[in-house]
This record gives sequence, C-alpha cells and structure tokens, in this order.
Amino acid sequence: MNPEWVRLLDLLQMNVRYERCVGVELFTDDGKRILDFLSGYCVHNVGHNHPDVVRALHSELERCGPAMIQTHVADLAGVLAEKLCERAGGRLKKAFFASSGSEGVEAAIKFARAHTKRAGILSAEHAFHGLTCGALSLMSDKFWSEGFGPLLPETAAVPFDDLQALERELKSKRFAAFIVEPIQSEAGVCVPHADYLRTAESLCRRYGTLFVLDEVQTGMYRTGPFLAAHQFGVDPDMVILAKAMSGGLVPCGAVLMSDEVCHSVYSSLPRAFVHTSTFSENSLAMRAALATLEVLESEQLGPRSIEAGRYLQERLSDALRDFEMVKEIRGAGLLMGIEFQAPRQLRLRIPYQAFAAIHPAVFGQIIVMRLFRDSGFLTQICGNNFTVLKVAPPLVVTDAQLDAFVLAVRNVVELAHSPGAFWSEALGLARRAFRG
Ligand SMILES: Cc1ncc(COP(=O)(O)O)c(C=O)c1O
Repeated sequence: MNPEWVRLLDLLQMNVRYERCVGVELFTDDGKRILDFLSGYCVHNVGHNHPDVVRALHSELERCGPAMIQTHVADLAGVLAEKLCERAGGRLKKAFFASSGSEGVEAAIKFARAHTKRAGILSAEHAFHGLTCGALSLMSDKFWSEGFGPLLPETAAVPFDDLQALERELKSKRFAAFIVEPIQSEAGVCVPHADYLRTAESLCRRYGTLFVLDEVQTGMYRTGPFLAAHQFGVDPDMVILAKAMSGGLVPCGAVLMSDEVCHSVYSSLPRAFVHTSTFSENSLAMRAALATLEVLESEQLGPRSIEAGRYLQERLSDALRDFEMVKEIRGAGLLMGIEFQAPRQLRLRIPYQAFAAIHPAVFGQIIVMRLFRDSGFLTQICGNNFTVLKVAPPLVVTDAQLDAFVLAVRNVVELAHSPGAFWSEALGLARRAFRG
C-alpha cells in the first residue's frame, strides 16, 4: 500500500482504526464514535452497512446463482437497467455497467466518439472525473496529471457556468461530447445558474455535441431528485453514475444513454462485445444496487435530502453569520460546501497568508483535523478547491446529528477567528509535514 497516504493520515491525526460502521456512525477500536459527514465522497447515501443491502448480498451469495459467466444475459443487470432508466427518464433508455466512476467516464468518451465520429471531448474547468487516463484528460487542475502524460489529445476545458465560452468551443464542431457535473463537487460545490445546463444542452444539440452529465456524486438522490439533472430540467444524452449506486459495499457504476448512442457502439453482431468488462454486470453489484435503490425510495431519502439540506443550510447560516472568514454556505440537498476566505483583520490575515504560502490546504486541513479530533466529525475539503469544506453526510442523518455538527463547526470557526491555539496547531502541522 501507499506509505505516503499512511504518513499523511498520521500527520492529520486521522489514522484511526474503524471497527464498526452503522448508518452515520463510525466506531473506532479505542471506543470513539465518529459521525461521518463525508460519506466517502457521496458513496454512503443509505448510510454504512444498511441492513437491507447486507441482507440482499447474503441472499445473493447463498443462492449460488450465476456470477461472471460472461457468456450469458445477466437477469439482475436487466432488471437494474430498467429501473435506473425508468427513474432517469427522458432519452435515457439503455445502461452499460461498470465498476467505478472513472470506468463510466471512459465508456462515455468512447461511446460519444463512436456516435458522433468526432474526437474532441470538452469539459469544465476544475472538474473531477476520475484518475484513469481518459477521465484525467478532462481535468484541468494540473496536480492530478503532472507526470502522467501524455494524456488524450483533442480535449479542452471551458469555465463552468460560462455559456459564451462553451458556445465558442462548440462552434468548432470538433467535440463529440461536453461532459460536465451538474453541480461541481470537488471544484467547491459549485451550483450553476438556473438556466446554465438547459442552455448548455441546447447549444450542444445545435452543434452536434452530446450532452453528458457526470452524476457520480450528485446522482442517486444526493441532491434531492434521483438525478441532479431533474432539478435543472435537462435531458442528457448520457449520464454516468457510480459511488452511491450499490450502498457502499460493492463497486458499481453505470452509464445510462439513449438508444441511438447505444446503437452506435453495439451496431452489429460482430460488435456485440466491442466494449465490455469482466466485472461489469456482476451479480453482487447488481443485487446491492437493486437493494440500495429500494432503500433510497422506501425511506424517502430524496425528499429527506432536500428537507435536511434546507435545515442544515439555515442552521449553519445562523451559526456562522458573524465570522468574517466564512464567505458562503451553498449546495443542494445534502451536498453542501462552506467556503472560507482570507480575513480582513491584520492579526488574522498575517498567519492565514503565511500558512497559505506554505501550502494552500493548511487552513482547511486544520479545520478538518479539529472537527475530527475535538468533535468526532469526519469531513474533508474539496479536492480542487481547498477553501471549501464539503458537507455531505449520509441521507439518513438525523436533525440531532445535524445540530451537533453545526455546533462543532461553530466552535472550530470561532477558534480560527482568535489568534492562538488554532494557528499554533497550524504551525505544528507545517513543521511535522516538512520534517521528513
Ligand atoms: C464527479 C466524479 N466523477 C467521477 C469520479 C471517479 O469515480 P471513481 O473514483 O469511482 O473512479 C469521481 C470520484 O470522486 C467523481 O467525484
């Protein structure tokens, strides 16, 4: 395993041993209880180890059914495909299954090229689409790609939420697809203007480019509706799902697409297996995904996400209103972000800037570390925007847990606004990081 990852977790004092994880709660072997407000980056929408998903997996194992025979039609995959397409609606009529979000993005790139016979792929700046070579080619933040090139040619990125820039690129008619997250998660939980996606979709249609939504984090009721696409009223040509699809227990992903896109790839008998993967429709993933969908709907976790998101946003806004370093609290449903900014007061600005110069993530990581160590909340800052603390608990979170989180955030933000403990902790962290 990667030893630097262990060292980083040690440094952040987050390298604990989890023994038992249930719902929102994670229990460590030394008797601590942590509340998960990260959900493995939007994996645990139904909470950890949901009993219905666990039961479904048990029963799938016990029935000794067909698994990875490869030369059969996997019934469970058919049932799941139908349910996903039914819920997604619009032109999404077929599903390709994968084992991760990145693998879904790779498939979408290939399918878009096959359908349009164009090579170019357009994405939005600061997106996160995964770390395989194709997906990585759609990510403008160089941190992820440095040293791994050359990546896919004929890719370009436009600023998110900028329709003029999008049209300028689309006009070239060299792009097979515009692949975009409806709400950019790792870029800092960026919610576009109400008409951005609708207009982007019609621009894509005008210039013959497929409109593809990466809903790996936003899908599966995370922001309220089944897809975030539904709250923006768009009808994409493809949607990529993964993460929360299978209840956090078995890897699973999917690309939903129109009949026309599907037919461009699987266009004849000889091409029947032109894009596939060994683990693609495996029965455990399919069973887990079916059980997860059932839980999401029977427990009404979509409406709950909206209600809890509103409650949390209100409570956070009240609690953090007077702190100058809190810039904005934003999001949709239970995908939220708290954005911080440099303080104006000189006594705070000097340490803030000094630590930002050491590494731009230091401020955010101290917030994360203190929330974890002092209050028992697991969070993280966004991967492509270190000034935003991501808030994404499982959708089964209770109001009491949300209240406790608001109090914990308020306490750590208050600490950051007083010279002393917070900043000496930052100094200690910086020293330990650069010791060796
Ligand atoms: C929006 C988005 N797309 C794609 C991916 C890649 O998914 P995976 O890590 O399963 O390959 C991620 C991962 O975080 C993501 O957030």
